[in-house]
Amino acid sequence: MRLLSFDAVEALAEAAADRVAAGVRGRREPTLALPTGRTAVPLYDALAHRHAAGTIDLSRARGFNLDELLLPAGSPASFRAFMERHAWGRTGFDPRRCDIPDSGATDPEAECGRYDRVLAAAGPLDLAILGIGADGHVGYNLPGPPHERTHVVQVPGAVADGLGVPAAERPLRAITMGFGPLRAARRLLLLAIGPAKRRAVRALVDGPADPRWPASLLRDHPEFDVLVTRDAMGEP
Ligand code: GLP
Repeated sequence: MRLLSFDAVEALAEAAADRVAAGVRGRREPTLALPTGRTAVPLYDALAHRHAAGTIDLSRARGFNLDELLLPAGSPASFRAFMERHAWGRTGFDPRRCDIPDSGATDPEAECGRYDRVLAAAGPLDLAILGIGADGHVGYNLPGPPHERTHVVQVPGAVADGLGVPAAERPLRAITMGFGPLRAARRLLLLAIGPAKRRAVRALVDGPADPRWPASLLRDHPEFDVLVTRDAMGEP
């Protein structure tokens, strides 16, 4: 694991964008796992600037979102809506080459099966970009026995609180990619911003691999970049 800490979010985002550029370089149709969440926004902004400047080309990349909330059709809280606002298009990712679990799936288990088949057909991911929850979750791989495949989870209330989902749409469920494609990815890039992530980052960095802190289960991946702000490490 390579750990880098940054004073400023902008510097972290530029370093992350450098790693995205390196991850797609030389590959005809690079495949990436893509995150949502506040942490991902500065990275997507940095990629959007590079796309506008013509210094990165993601037009042939294939993106697979890590997870999606199960919500009524058209909910603005969906991760699809997030990707339309922050990522697809403006960064150069072609939405037609990107996939995300169906937020409105009437048969979520069948949708998990579809996503696993799509991921298997695409082959190993070139780069999986991850955020991290305060409880150490990646995608929605929550604390507890790990799942290798795409699965449905009940989103804990404390996690759902930060998502702006109305009370009428609770309890909240989500579909998430499992650990299988993350372990198999050629490279992993995990981003953490702010003091709320301190315990989860420490569990990842200090180890051991512990299913109570899901991100730590990836700590032995041979190509793992962890980019954090100093306050996410507990550094002043
Ligand atoms: C969300 C997502 C994760 C994300 C994490 C942290 O709920 N399921 O993929 O990494 O929680 O989110 P944020 O970056 O907003 O802190």
